[in-house]
Amino acid sequence: MMSASPSPSPARDSRAAKAARGERARPIYVVNGPNLNMLGEREPEHYGRTSLAEIEAELSACAKAKNVALVFFQSNEEGRLIDCIQDAAQNARALIINAGAYTHSSVALLDALKLLSVPVVEVHLSNIFAREAFRQHSYISPAASGVICGFGAAGYRMALNAILAQTDMPQTGMPQTRIKDTAP
Ligand code: DQA
Repeated sequence: MMSASPSPSPARDSRAAKAARGERARPIYVVNGPNLNMLGEREPEHYGRTSLAEIEAELSACAKAKNVALVFFQSNEEGRLIDCIQDAAQNARALIINAGAYTHSSVALLDALKLLSVPVVEVHLSNIFAREAFRQHSYISPAASGVICGFGAAGYRMALNAILAQTDMPQTGMPQTRIKDTAP
């Protein structure tokens, strides 16, 4: 007869396991940049008809089912986005970011994201690589664990699932450490 495996003794329940549990209790930040407050109305041919409030509600339901806390933030101002990312560097388990047009212009956002030692997933509703040349370069991708683009509103849920796959199953997930900036 098979016996149930014993519950871990305090000695076996290592500090690392406790630290991992503490880390998982932290929220995942979902940060949206300029003009994303206009989703649903703005260029629906690129960004669809789902509003940001609807995206956040859907993500909340998804996170609740997985027992994960989320922090939502949207701003049209670069400095406020940086303040939020700095806050996430102290408090977040991971960060999902759609930086909107700042993706293509902001070294300051890149620098802020480099403060994070937890997973960062860059999301775009549209496939930026199939659009104008100026949208095909992201300043922030070097600080991201991964990039999801072209799947519309579903990209945010994909990002959440990718983070959970990485942080709950590190042996099968994305690399734990982000590639260091090798630029001179
Ligand atoms: C976007 C793509 C950006 O080029 C654009 O400026 C946005 C939205 C996207 O989600 O597809 O504001 O980040």
